[in-house]
Amino acid sequence: MAARVASAAFPSGDDLAAAYRRLSAAYEQTLRYAEDVKGLYAQVQRSVCQSLLGLANALEAKDAYTRGHSDRVGASSRSVAVALGLRPQEVEIVGQAGLLHDIGKIGVPETVLRKHGELDAQEWALMRKHPLIGAQIVSPFEFFATGALAIRHHHERLDGSGYPDGLAGEAIPIGARIVAVADVYDALTSNRPYRAALPREAALEYLARQAGRTLDGRAVAAFVALARESPPANPHVGARRALAARDAATPR
Ligand SMILES: [Fe+2]
Repeated sequence: MAARVASAAFPSGDDLAAAYRRLSAAYEQTLRYAEDVKGLYAQVQRSVCQSLLGLANALEAKDAYTRGHSDRVGASSRSVAVALGLRPQEVEIVGQAGLLHDIGKIGVPETVLRKHGELDAQEWALMRKHPLIGAQIVSPFEFFATGALAIRHHHERLDGSGYPDGLAGEAIPIGARIVAVADVYDALTSNRPYRAALPREAALEYLARQAGRTLDGRAVAAFVALARESPPANPHVGARRALAARDAATPR
């Protein structure tokens, strides 16, 4: 009896080796499952982003003046995020947020989006809802929570004069501060129903004047440096007579 107890409590070397092999095989299997799940998760994320991109394209079809705007803002935001030393995962999110920043305009009436001339107070109220609508559209996707914040706050201004929450300084998420710079530049250098494009240099000077006032100083410095290295392609620039920066300052 004592011998049986001893053998159960202290398994032989062979038993231990077999148990170790089983444990090791189970561990390997778990790692393979984890890799599969990780791969599937990445695949789902890509599919979700593709679907959202489809929605962004639908918006550009609805509002011809913003055609190409999302792509350019996405690409510039990504480059600025890299230049500011954000981690690769953060760079990816900021790039996607730049691409999708105006997705909420899908909920703004076309009569407002396409209006020539100034918006009245009621139309502005509708237009100003687009960051919130955009953040709501992407909110079901947990992996994109940081991106949703960048979308929600891309019209905030460093001095607290922006919308929807009037956040100021570093209370504005870094992704939103980056997208804001790319958005303002692209809006300034694009023809819109309510004004003509500004020349590139005038737009860069405008950004420099706003650095530390309404726009993040480091993001502006990085954007201007990148723009001087390789000028962003924009078919609108110079296509029509430029208007004064005063009239072109606020992207919708
Ligand atoms: Fe916007």
